[in-house]
Amino acid sequence: PVFIFSALLTMSAPLALSPQELEKQQAAAAAVRWVRDGMVLGLGTGTTSAHFIKQLGERVQAGLKVQGTATSLASEALARQLGIPLLEPRRGLTFDLAVDGADELDGQLRLIKGGGGALLREKTIETASRYLLVIADSSKVVPVLGRFPLPLEVVPFALPWVLDAVEKLGGAPVLRTHKDDSASPVYSDQRNFLVDCHFGQIPDAEGLAVRLKTIPGIVEHGLFMGLAKAAVVIQGGVAQVLKP
Ligand code: 5RP
Repeated sequence: PVFIFSALLTMSAPLALSPQELEKQQAAAAAVRWVRDGMVLGLGTGTTSAHFIKQLGERVQAGLKVQGTATSLASEALARQLGIPLLEPRRGLTFDLAVDGADELDGQLRLIKGGGGALLREKTIETASRYLLVIADSSKVVPVLGRFPLPLEVVPFALPWVLDAVEKLGGAPVLRTHKDDSASPVYSDQRNFLVDCHFGQIPDAEGLAVRLKTIPGIVEHGLFMGLAKAAVVIQGGVAQVLKP
């Protein structure tokens, strides 16, 4: 009887969100209000973006007409499950609005992204978007980028030399592995490795981005500059719109 009672409690009690998760959900709810009928959307990746996709799905089920392309296989599966019409990559495809989370954002809306491993598809879709709206909980706002290790997507063959080159730039690179099996690397949707680089504070993000681009084997880095047009950040329970 005790088991049955506690099982019933678990089933009926609404899942309490942590304060951070609640902020993510609130930021996503604010972003859903930016969506208009007929828009072509870029759908981000990560837990904040998942809140957005779920709330967008509810609007689509209520009759909103939008289409979108997802920035990861995980977001694509979620969007498909919710009935959001999906567009395959094709030449000439552009997006009215992309909505995505971030691992960090500074006052100029420079971003670190890729904590969810989707940086390549995210940068591709967001570069093809007229408007990138970032959605974030308050913990993501920093005065200077670099508290969060900078993710890189790396071709597996090139890994040893990429690690050497990142160290020469002053970074401490760590190959991303599964939490429950440190011998097993995490693969991106493109079957590449992910490397998280601790640089400490990155005051010259533009300079670092240029240097990373010259290293063979780095397919993409997680510095997103000049892309975000606005960010919705929840501070003290209130949605603030930040502009660069
Ligand atoms: C995925 C990303 C995510 O946007 C970033 O990691 C933030 O994730 P979350 O919303 O779960 O905090 O860049 O590649």
